[in-house]
Amino acid sequence: MRIGVLNGGGDVPGLNPAIRGCVLRAMDFGWEVVGINEGWKGLIEGLTESLGISQVEDLMNKGGTILGTSRTSPYKVEKGVERCLQNIRKLKIEAIVAMGGEDTLGIANKLYKEHKMKVVGVPKTMDNDLSSTDYTFGFDTSVTLAMNALEVLKNTGKSHRRIMVLEVMGRHAGWVALFTAIGGGADWVLLPEEKADIDSMCKHLKRVYERKKIATVVVSEGIEVPGEKISKEKLDQFGHMLLKERGMGEGIARVIRDRLGVDTRVSVIGHMQRGGAPTLFDRMLGVRAGVKAVELIKEGKFGQMVSLRGTEMMGVSLEEAVGKLKTVSPEWIDFAHTLFK
Ligand code: F6P
Repeated sequence: MRIGVLNGGGDVPGLNPAIRGCVLRAMDFGWEVVGINEGWKGLIEGLTESLGISQVEDLMNKGGTILGTSRTSPYKVEKGVERCLQNIRKLKIEAIVAMGGEDTLGIANKLYKEHKMKVVGVPKTMDNDLSSTDYTFGFDTSVTLAMNALEVLKNTGKSHRRIMVLEVMGRHAGWVALFTAIGGGADWVLLPEEKADIDSMCKHLKRVYERKKIATVVVSEGIEVPGEKISKEKLDQFGHMLLKERGMGEGIARVIRDRLGVDTRVSVIGHMQRGGAPTLFDRMLGVRAGVKAVELIKEGKFGQMVSLRGTEMMGVSLEEAVGKLKTVSPEWIDFAHTLFK
């Protein structure tokens, strides 16, 4: 048996351990592993490398992905799907492990349904917004990095008697912002799932600032702006734009400065929260997901995605996993408000 492994979308810490998991489990079955470079682009163009023990020997602590990645959709490239299918035949690949978020796994699901491609999915995204799994690897590391950044901002903010705003990634789900704010002990959080209540935020920050001579706010890059128009040219092949460009953190800092008359600074952590060495949690989740994906192939469970449920790894329907984005629930939002005092 010869299997292909690819990862698409943004890189996340945990991908390299997951690749390692795939290769080590495939070795148990005497299978060959072909690494497909740069996501679906690699399958369209036939960009591959052979993966064996030496390629995955020293990967547990490495951020990023040794395979390279891209945000390519075979459905948006001329003859993209046809070329993927041709290359699978040419490279004698019998099954594929596709690691990704809603976009990459959405393609995997479509190819499985429309072309019977033998594919299993591995959920990875720092946004943690995939349904049918409790967590995705990449999330824990990126929140830990953002939380540490908040700690640093508190020190300088307190010294200068300032209000500090930290803008974090996470696209249209607020999990990264929410967990950063809770874990880092911020004073307010703004999420894409909740209409920003600027009056309440400013009242609250005024009280906090009078008490502590510092206040901190975590802003998700994806917060909603009523009536915002986005030009089509700014969208990638999956219809997403680079949300960081909207400068939501800067906008919120300006409002706070104007309303409260307090010196306010903004920091955008951006890609620095994505490229770090994986935390223990992401290493464990990544390597377990890689092993499980190969086991799903062994069992012939195509069209499934590896999922973490509680402490167990299992297979779930890929179709269900990509059907709906997992955003922050009202229960989580209520819980958060209890903590911002
Ligand atoms: O989906 C992962 C993510 O890191 C988002 O949180 C962010 O909006 C986006 O990718 C950034 O994309 P890029 O790496 O293409 O700039």
